[in-house]
Amino acid sequence: MSTQTATKVALIGCGFAADYYVTTMANHPELSIGGVFDRDVERAKVFSSHHGLPLYTCVEELLAEEDIKVVVNLTSPESHFDVSRAAMLAGKHVYSEKPLAMTAAEGAELVRLSEERELVLSAAPCNLLGETAQTVWRAVRRGEIGRPQLVYASMDDGAIHRMRYRTWRSPSGAPWPYRSEFSTGCVLEHSGYYLNLLIAMFGQVTRVSSFATNIVRNVPQVDAAAPDFVSGCLHFDSGVVARLTCSIVAPADHSLLVVGDEGALTIQDAWDFGSPVHLRRDVLPERRRLSEPAPYPLVRECEFAHRYRGSHVMDFSRGVAEVAHAAAEGRPSRLPARHALHALEVMFAMMDGGERQFAGIGLDPIEPMPWAMEE
Ligand SMILES: NC(=O)c1ccc[n+]([C@@H]2O[C@H](COP(=O)([O-])OP(=O)(O)OC[C@H]3O[C@@H](n4cnc5c(N)ncnc54)[C@H](O)[C@@H]3O)[C@@H](O)[C@H]2O)c1
Repeated sequence: MSTQTATKVALIGCGFAADYYVTTMANHPELSIGGVFDRDVERAKVFSSHHGLPLYTCVEELLAEEDIKVVVNLTSPESHFDVSRAAMLAGKHVYSEKPLAMTAAEGAELVRLSEERELVLSAAPCNLLGETAQTVWRAVRRGEIGRPQLVYASMDDGAIHRMRYRTWRSPSGAPWPYRSEFSTGCVLEHSGYYLNLLIAMFGQVTRVSSFATNIVRNVPQVDAAAPDFVSGCLHFDSGVVARLTCSIVAPADHSLLVVGDEGALTIQDAWDFGSPVHLRRDVLPERRRLSEPAPYPLVRECEFAHRYRGSHVMDFSRGVAEVAHAAAEGRPSRLPARHALHALEVMFAMMDGGERQFAGIGLDPIEPMPWAMEE
């Protein structure tokens, strides 16, 4: 796609995360922001004038705009279903922030609608499209660690309840929505950073055994906080077992360890598209000794000019670009809606605690990014 034929996208939801998208959209000249909308009129005005973006004052007007091809749904989680559904009913492709929906039934309805209308529907996070995730995935395909067997994935986010989160503001002035974050919970907010990658590499999850609890009692000003510590063991179709932990209690740790029968790969930080990858290989297999971790080169340098200054080093808009490219090329998205729905079902099973089995659903494999294909 050239800049002359830039795909117009619209942002619905102008809150804390919306600044991430405006900043990183500049990495993708094939996209242009045609307008923004928020049901909070004041917030929408402040956001549109801060970024110099056209403002829609009613969502119907935005959705009726022929030129807008992709809606980026940056609303609060409980609005995701309604907004994505309305956008698809208006014929728009959708990139939704996570989670895809707040129930599996609503998620399934969105997937059904996207298939019926032949629209691309993808959900964040998009770090699967990042250099680090693509590097680990290619290393696994190449057999660098032999047969993958075990994964430890951590999405611990630090003791947020002890931080001054009420004072956090985005550059355009949106407060960090702590009520929404605590009631949605760390699993729906953060597990997708590794679930998407694990499902891409190892296929569907067939069984979840999970423990979920609330360690922090009486989170201030939040009536119904979701579990703040959840640790699930996920059994994948391919035989891999993964322990995936999410919390907002333990110190920040967004690491990944993938163990195979001939070695192990590690990532330091799921929130960094260019996080270093290390490889350890068997040196004395009979005594199960591994070499010291050696840097494993990324498939390409992680260079994107426009970065949001915060706790992430992520090109948030890469997922939006993927939706626009998939729609223009008439191919499946590398962030497929069915994978997002499966991830959502796994997240609910993790939050419920206990055991859950999943019937075979036959997820289509995902293509790696072109630059991460095998030579
Ligand atoms: N806060 C973060 O650090 C962060 C980071 C990455 C992703 N996200 C995700 O981004 C999404 C938005 O989070 P946020 O932090 O920006 O929340 P936020 O509460 O700051 O912003 C959400 C905005 O959506 C608007 N909105 C809600 N329902 C709407 C509707 N039906 N129509 C139009 N506008 C509507 C609200 O008025 C609000 O301005 C969430 O899905 C969240 O998981 C947040």
